[in-house]
Amino acid sequence: MRKVTLDELQPGMKLAQDIILEDGRFLLLKGFTLRKRYLDKIRLYDIPYVFVENEIQKIEHISEEIIYSETYHTIKNVMKAVREGANVDVEAVKETVSEIVHSIMSNDNVFMNLTGIRDIDNYTYLHSVDVCIYSIITGKSMGLPLEVLNDLAMGAILHDIGKCKIPLNVLNKPAKLTDSEYELIKKHVDYGYDILSRTPGINEDVAKIALYHHEHWNGEGYPRGLKGEEIDYLSRIVAIADVYDALTANRVYRKRFMPHEAAEYIISNTGTQFDPQIQRIFIESIAIYPADIIVMLSTGEVARVVESKGPPSIRPKVMVITRKEGPPVLEPYVIDLAKSPEVSIVDIIS
Ligand SMILES: [Fe+2]
Repeated sequence: MRKVTLDELQPGMKLAQDIILEDGRFLLLKGFTLRKRYLDKIRLYDIPYVFVENEIQKIEHISEEIIYSETYHTIKNVMKAVREGANVDVEAVKETVSEIVHSIMSNDNVFMNLTGIRDIDNYTYLHSVDVCIYSIITGKSMGLPLEVLNDLAMGAILHDIGKCKIPLNVLNKPAKLTDSEYELIKKHVDYGYDILSRTPGINEDVAKIALYHHEHWNGEGYPRGLKGEEIDYLSRIVAIADVYDALTANRVYRKRFMPHEAAEYIISNTGTQFDPQIQRIFIESIAIYPADIIVMLSTGEVARVVESKGPPSIRPKVMVITRKEGPPVLEPYVIDLAKSPEVSIVDIIS
């Protein structure tokens, strides 16, 4: 870590400490890789120096990791600012989601090794980023035009912005919510719509996603109890991405679902909670188990997911590389989980 003045700052430097303004607001957070536009932003404030990591990233080619981490920091900044009463920084969100859309247009699975790495503390922000990624992949498979994909991405990343109006002690309560607390949390959809519909630069389709992402296909969702195609289709996409991603995260009150278990939950609630057509596209489009991740099997074998042709499978082919116990694996071998119902993935190691 080193201290640099604003004149010494260069694109590609990574912040080693948060930049906090005199009034206590966060400008940029630790871990952020600086790009030119952020240097311009920092220079608007009277900041004498900042702390950066020693190494500098090359950013002629922006890696997916940088885009992912930048999006995380952007939504974190935006949500913190809205909680403190500021407006949504529309330009920052637009810019970062358009980079995600652009990357996914060239490769569906470009972010799939990055999604799902959440812990309790960063859950809200990474959840928003992951919901955005899953929604774009689904929208792309549906053949939506670029302009609509950008709206979908904006709505997906901001879908829970209304939670900024819910007291933190209710939002983060580790115990079961009371009925009245649950009713209060449900209001985040109306709050979100209010915030977005009065924000210049955000269109109605984006604001509707905040309002309708908890509606159910059978009319039993909230806040309006809309049914089927009465719910706008972008919200129906985000609804699936939201539940899938929420289930695959560890929460204070339950252990995470394995990706195939979350996928099975989505499939089994199709026609009741979710739009059947969009559900099918969602499951066929997202890599439930991306290639190269290391998983633990129910047999105690440790295996690497093997890339396979065709739509991603909730039961992929895996290459066994070692065992938790017992003799070492001298010759790695492949198990096709689609053809081996007795074996299942019980954990993701990395
Ligand atoms: Fe929500």
